[in-house]
Amino acid sequence: MSEAHERIAMVQGASRGIGLALVETLLEAGDVERVVATSRDPARSEGLAALRARHGERLACEPLDVTDEDSIRAAAQRIGERAPRLRWLFNCAGILHDAPVRPEKRLEDVDPALLARVFAVNAFGPLLVAKHFLGLLAHGERSVLVNLSARVGSIEDNRLGGWYAYRASKAAQNMFTRTLAIELRRRAPRLICVALHPGTVATNLSAPYRGGVDPDRVFAPRQAASQLWSVAQSLTPEDGGRFLDWAGKPIAW
Ligand SMILES: NC(=O)c1ccc[n+]([C@@H]2O[C@H](COP(=O)([O-])OP(=O)(O)OC[C@H]3O[C@@H](n4cnc5c(N)ncnc54)[C@H](OP(=O)(O)O)[C@@H]3O)[C@@H](O)[C@H]2O)c1
Repeated sequence: MSEAHERIAMVQGASRGIGLALVETLLEAGDVERVVATSRDPARSEGLAALRARHGERLACEPLDVTDEDSIRAAAQRIGERAPRLRWLFNCAGILHDAPVRPEKRLEDVDPALLARVFAVNAFGPLLVAKHFLGLLAHGERSVLVNLSARVGSIEDNRLGGWYAYRASKAAQNMFTRTLAIELRRRAPRLICVALHPGTVATNLSAPYRGGVDPDRVFAPRQAASQLWSVAQSLTPEDGGRFLDWAGKPIAW
C-alpha cells in the first residue's frame, strides 16, 4: 500500500505543558505536514497563538473537552472534514491538581467528586477520544495513538502510596490502552496504540511536587516532547498495548 497521504498529527490537550511542546516539535519535524491542536479553549492559549503566528495554516486549533462526549464527537466531525486521515494522535490532557482537585495524602482526603473528576479527564478522556477518532486513525497506513500515562500509575512500582485518584486513574487509563490495543490487532492492525510516560517534566502539573526530584532528572517540555516523538516514530506493531517510558523502555504494569 502506498504511504502517499498527507502526514497530519493531532495533539489533544495542547494549550500548555507537554502538549504545547509536542505541537511545536511536530511543526518543526520534517515528516509532519500539518498539526491539529485541541484543548478546552484554544483561543486562550498564548503558546498556540504564537505557534499559529509562526506556522500559519500548518496549525489548526479546535476546542475539545475530554469530559464532554458531545464536544469530542463534534471535534472529530470538524477535524475529519479537513484531516480525514491522522498519522499520529497524542492524548495529553491530564490533571493532578486543579482547584478544588488536590492529590490525596491519606485515606481521609479521598473524595468521590475528586475521584470522578480525575478519572473523567485522565482515564475516560483518552478512551472516548479513541472512540470518536478511530475512523480518522484506522485507514490502513501506519498510524500511532499515544496516551500520555505516568509511572505512578504502575501498580508494581507503587512504593510511596498517596495520590489515590491520580495513580488509579492512570492505572485505569493503562488498562483501557491495553484493551484497545488488543481490539485494534483485529480491527486496525496498522494502528499502534501505546501508553507513554514522559518522565518528570517542568510543567504546571508537576510544579508543586518537584521539590524532591533531582533537577538533572526533570526534563524541559521541549526535551520531553522530542523524546516522546522519537519513541512514537520508532514504534512497531509489536509495541501495541505496551507501557513505555520516554526512552522506549518498558514499565511494569
Ligand atoms: N509533567 C509531568 O511531570 C508528567 C509526568 C508524568 C505524566 N504526565 C502526564 O502528561 C500529560 C500532560 O501533562 P502536563 O504536565 O503537560 O500538564 P499541564 O501543563 O497541566 O497541561 C495539561 C493539559 O491538559 C488539558 N486539559 C485539562 N483538562 C482538560 C479537559 N477537560 N479537556 C481537555 N483538555 C484538558 C489542559 O488544557 P486546558 O486546561 O487549556 O483545557 C492542558 O493543555 C498528562 O496526562 C500528565 O498526567 C506529566
